[in-house]
Amino acid sequence: MKILDKLELALADIRKKTDFVPKIGLVLGSGLGGLADDMDIVSEISYSEISDFPISTVSGHAGKFLFGYIEDVPVVVMQGRVHYYEGYDIHDVVLPIRIMGLLGAKILFLTNAAGGIRRDFSKGCLMVIRDHISSLVPSPLIGPNIDELGVRFPDMSCVYDEELCTIIKNSANELSINVEEGVYIQTSGPNYETPAEIRAYSLWGADAVGMSTACEAMTARHMGIRVCGISCITNMAAGISDAPLSHAEVKETADRVGKEFASLVKHSVSKMKSL
Ligand code: HPA
Repeated sequence: MKILDKLELALADIRKKTDFVPKIGLVLGSGLGGLADDMDIVSEISYSEISDFPISTVSGHAGKFLFGYIEDVPVVVMQGRVHYYEGYDIHDVVLPIRIMGLLGAKILFLTNAAGGIRRDFSKGCLMVIRDHISSLVPSPLIGPNIDELGVRFPDMSCVYDEELCTIIKNSANELSINVEEGVYIQTSGPNYETPAEIRAYSLWGADAVGMSTACEAMTARHMGIRVCGISCITNMAAGISDAPLSHAEVKETADRVGKEFASLVKHSVSKMKSL
């Protein structure tokens, strides 16, 4: 099925259930879904209720859209995302992002769990994403261009919106939360990296590594949606610390910093109300 047809079908299924128009689309990463507890939810739709929609298969990812308000700002939240390593085509991985744009979202707020490459990072710290490297996974924009969504050759020189990054940094300041800034690199996963790969990515200029986000950010920019993102450094990347990597550690750290993380996202969202 053509991507545009899939989008139309999915949109129709959602619109049968809610006419909610979000201002912000928020993607909650591994173990970070707890933010939804503080949200004033108007409607929720599981991905499994939407025709031809990809479904997250990873523990720690709930797999539904929540429609409602965070600090009076209308948002659609993805509680759980789908990843390329789950075996989905990259176009299906980013389908939910396109849907959020078509539902009306003008801002995409991405969050993820990531491994820290920069040696002065530590487990549990938060990083405002300033740029990304997506070259290790196929571009979600490969294939016939969908002219209804954006141009053939979209500019990626400023994916992460300066004003939105400043809002996040100011919010962190006001809440006395320490945030770092850096470059995120997306790998295909599902395996974690080797120490040699991490050394190579470090030379490329990457500060944190994960298995999502960059393809979503690109898709949103293609549609002209403003993008920002925060990585939760759940572990130091392979070879940076001697410890073997595990999903249990990722979830444990995400749980531990979940409250601080949620308050930063909530505060930042409230400041995006007037944009
Ligand atoms: N590598 C890739 N993805 C990740 C990591 C990591 O170290 N931590 C959390 N997601």
